[in-house]
Amino acid sequence: MTSAPLEARGLVKTYGDQGVATRALAGVDLVVAPGESVAIMGPSGSGKTTLLHVLAGVLAPTSGSVLWRGQDLTTLPDRARTQLRRSDFGFVFQAGQLLPELPADENAALPLLLAGTPRPTAIDTSRRWLAHLGLAGMERRRPGELSGGQAQRVAIARALVGRPGVVFADEPTGALDRHTGWEVMQALTTATRAQGASLVVVTHDEEVAHWCSRTVHMRDGLIVAEAHAQPVAPAAGVTAAGATASAAGTTGPASPTPSPTASQPLPVALPTAPWSGAAR
Ligand SMILES: Nc1ncnc2c1ncn2[C@@H]1O[C@H](COP(=O)(O)OP(=O)(O)O)[C@@H](O)[C@H]1O
Ligand SMILES: [Mg+2]
Repeated sequence: MTSAPLEARGLVKTYGDQGVATRALAGVDLVVAPGESVAIMGPSGSGKTTLLHVLAGVLAPTSGSVLWRGQDLTTLPDRARTQLRRSDFGFVFQAGQLLPELPADENAALPLLLAGTPRPTAIDTSRRWLAHLGLAGMERRRPGELSGGQAQRVAIARALVGRPGVVFADEPTGALDRHTGWEVMQALTTATRAQGASLVVVTHDEEVAHWCSRTVHMRDGLIVAEAHAQPVAPAAGVTAAGATASAAGTTGPASPTPSPTASQPLPVALPTAPWSGAAR
């Protein structure tokens, strides 16, 4: 669906003023190809969330540019940028992003309702996504009646209902146990790919990163290393993350796609995708 990359050039972001300035991004270049999934890893405070927010047009950089479909997000007027964010981007955060008083189907339908889609169509689309993500029968449950993993699937449905070109996710499995996190990441990457959207996901979990086609490591506001999914040898200079992952990993960190033996098969079947338009 997308035909252009998301491209960041020379991103610098400084918070605060001269006295207590923090340089969160120190000159980041990043190109995310259509349909590509990129994991952003790095220690706390290295600038991951800042980078995600700048890429998504949520936060303005101090300097540098973000190009998306021929437009520089950093120079667009606020209103146009908000509009573009709503129509072209989807977001998944760590937790607590669903409206507690709304059932799952209405939560997931929100972007469509905000965009003026007639309610029956919006709810219908939302329900198809929920079913697609393994939540059939839970459409009327409120977030408090869902497990953490189920709530994240609702959030994924919400990120995808509007057919975004890019989905941004900040620590989407951070509040989940390992197995549930694994399932949620599979749901997120599979659904995003099937939709033809790109994915940019911040994570501290090496296993989560394995669901992505590329991993970039940040330190002190810079991308310091990069690895593609094929040979995932930990890059030189990023010893800490690589070392712990190999020590703790049961499957070994090198598999480009996660081994199905590493966890239970997931209920995310893809026979009738909601975007296919095939009514059943
Ligand atoms: N709103 C803010 N105001 C001031 N400093 C901030 C703000 N947000 C983040 N920072 C600082 O910027 C740096 C990068 O933060 P962040 O992007 O949140 O890193 P990460 O997501 O990798 O933990 C940190 O030093 C952090 O303290
Ligand atoms: Mg962060």
